[in-house]
Amino acid sequence: MNKKVYQNKHEVAEQFSAYFAGLAQGKDGFHIALSGGSTPKLIFDVLAKSYGNSIDWSKIHFYWGDERCVPPTDDESNYKMTADHLFSKIEVPETNIHRVLGENDPKGEAMRYANLLEINLDRVGGVPQFDLVLLGMGDDGHTASIFPHQINLWNAEDHCVVAVHPESGQKRVSINGTVINKAKEVIFLVTGSNKAEKVEEIHNQKGAYLKYPATLVQPESGRLVWFMDADAASKIA
Ligand code: 6PG
Repeated sequence: MNKKVYQNKHEVAEQFSAYFAGLAQGKDGFHIALSGGSTPKLIFDVLAKSYGNSIDWSKIHFYWGDERCVPPTDDESNYKMTADHLFSKIEVPETNIHRVLGENDPKGEAMRYANLLEINLDRVGGVPQFDLVLLGMGDDGHTASIFPHQINLWNAEDHCVVAVHPESGQKRVSINGTVINKAKEVIFLVTGSNKAEKVEEIHNQKGAYLKYPATLVQPESGRLVWFMDADAASKIA
């Protein structure tokens, strides 16, 4: 597990952007699953500002690792967050953006999205393979939208599942752990002191770490990178 720790979240954003630009360089058809929530906002702002004109976005296809079951105009929508912070600032063909239709019935949309992934992506052992999956981590150790109280969804038969937020009850569509771990590379983007406790438990394999879906992220390729700021990494060496 490769840990990259930087002073603050702005430096995380700058360093991730440079890393991403290197990964995407020269690729023709790069399929990436984006994370949601608030951490990506600054990262997408910096990515657009620093590399908006140097990356050939027509070669990159955007998907989501998880999406809230809300319309794309809703402030809760991960698609809307990404449009506001990234797509509105770069030249990316609409046809390269494959959003989860949050406005649709969750079960039907999970099936539709799983089929879309199976059609659009290479399949390895029958599992759609992303070139890159970006993940955040909740302060409860969830990742994508697989929460501790539904950790059984990690190995669900379906490649996309319907999950429920433990506090708000909000429904989410999420890729499962099998898809996450099939990716060629997985990058965690984790900042903030509220994540430090779970980062310590996961990295030091202590406490209730086995109950956290983020612990289960172990890509078969072995290419797992944690981008963190000093606050999130404050409890690990
Ligand atoms: C979501 C995310 C989720 C997120 C974590 C961290 O849809 O909310 O995909 O997994 O990455 O909850 O969220 P923050 O970046 O807001 O701390």
